[in-house]
Amino acid sequence: MVKLYVNPNIKMGHINSEIYGHFAEHLGRCIYEGIYVGEDSEIPNTNGMRNDVVAALKEMRIPVLRWPGGCFADEYHWKDGIGPKENRKRMVNTHWGGVVEDNSFGTHEFFELCRQLECKTYINGNVGSGTVQEMSEWVEYMTFDGVSPMAELRAKNGHPEPWKVDYFGVGNENWGCGGNMTPEQYALEYRRYQTYVRNYNPEQPILKICGGANVADYEWTRKVLEVTHYHSLKEFHGFMDGLSLHYYTHPEGWEKKGSATDFDEKTWYKTLSKTLFMDTLIKNHGAIMDEFDPDKKIGMIIDEWGTWYTVEPGTNPGFLYQQNTMRDALVAGINLNIFNKHCDRVKMANIAQMVNVLQAVILTEGEKMLLTPTYHVFNMYKYHQDAELLHSKIDTEMIGLEEEYMVPNLHESVSMSKDGKVHVTLNNLSLTDSYDIDGVFVESAVKSVKGTILTNDMKAYNTFENPDNVRPEEFKDYKITDKGISLKIPACSVLHLEIEML
Ligand code: AHR
Repeated sequence: MVKLYVNPNIKMGHINSEIYGHFAEHLGRCIYEGIYVGEDSEIPNTNGMRNDVVAALKEMRIPVLRWPGGCFADEYHWKDGIGPKENRKRMVNTHWGGVVEDNSFGTHEFFELCRQLECKTYINGNVGSGTVQEMSEWVEYMTFDGVSPMAELRAKNGHPEPWKVDYFGVGNENWGCGGNMTPEQYALEYRRYQTYVRNYNPEQPILKICGGANVADYEWTRKVLEVTHYHSLKEFHGFMDGLSLHYYTHPEGWEKKGSATDFDEKTWYKTLSKTLFMDTLIKNHGAIMDEFDPDKKIGMIIDEWGTWYTVEPGTNPGFLYQQNTMRDALVAGINLNIFNKHCDRVKMANIAQMVNVLQAVILTEGEKMLLTPTYHVFNMYKYHQDAELLHSKIDTEMIGLEEEYMVPNLHESVSMSKDGKVHVTLNNLSLTDSYDIDGVFVESAVKSVKGTILTNDMKAYNTFENPDNVRPEEFKDYKITDKGISLKIPACSVLHLEIEML
């Protein structure tokens, strides 16, 4: 019998809702078709946004959305996407698939989408090919409530009231597609650009995100923090509220990537083992951040994560369209548990990407829409949002088929939501074994349990013909005991338990 210990009396930190955030780039069919179809579309929409997609994202409680990129952000000139649509520039999306970008989804449309989703806004500005003036004017356009050229322009374009920008990213991947800069070079640019990301409304401050490292580039983190934390007259200037980190799971490495649906057991464990590397990355980058920011005022913002496979056969390689199996469900479950457990430092995370791109929660085809296994995990985990992380521990053993890619058989995180309910999310990484678990709740008694499970064959996925092939079901294989609960978790599964304490 495996032991799971939960202590409802030990709170380890607050889980920011934004950890469950999303990312939508002008890439492939994410924005166009996937979210925005235009007011004249036959697909049911509200002000151009697909009703089915918006409803599904609201159900999942999407807390924040990052836009417009990604690499696209450092090529995006926001003035191309405002004003009458017929006058907006048509251009080629050079980075992603060489297709026509007609700019019909721009700043106004983004805020309309977030209004419908009732989520926070995360805008990513252009450092790579933009100017300080351009960035500064965008912030003025979006947030200034007074007499100014940009506020006037916004009003002329139909929105007199300013919007709320919750987060603003100063560039994206500036070590790569965002300008191929050195850390010192970017950090100096960051200091200058962020100066003009003005907080026009002190009651609604914009939180500034500095562009962080790729995977294990610890040198980037250190150098950027050194340069931005210039010490003047005994005052430290961090100039940032968050520092980002990007880490994708490529089962077969960056070059080869590997198929989303056609893989073997070895690749299953390899993928999960590579996913677990996220924990090491957070610890190592976090340790460097601790040196500069011991009070953890700067959030680690993992604004791109998820699986990245070879595109679906027959699709545009620049569109990054991939299927989503039970393997992706486990990747999501593990990552989200890791983020919960590091909620003292990780303040936001945005899976890449929301619809039709990489590890999407939603896929669309014409008027059809399906929810992926990853969607179901986000929906099952949503109760962790804005909850308190609880002290928990599970006995694990290492399993796998190759020494290099062994993984723990079980993976968990536990929180208490505002209504006092305890939420356990538990992953069984084994493809063969179910486990009997004895859940011990320290100095507390369990009154009732509600369980939901996602389980299936490792390669199972949803298609437009069979959209409910992988879907959550009620979990009944548990008993309330003197000490807590006992349960049996099946192989290859993600479980959520909502527990009411006495
Ligand atoms: O999410 C796809 C791309 O991955 C993003 O545009 C970029 O930031 C990253 O390299």
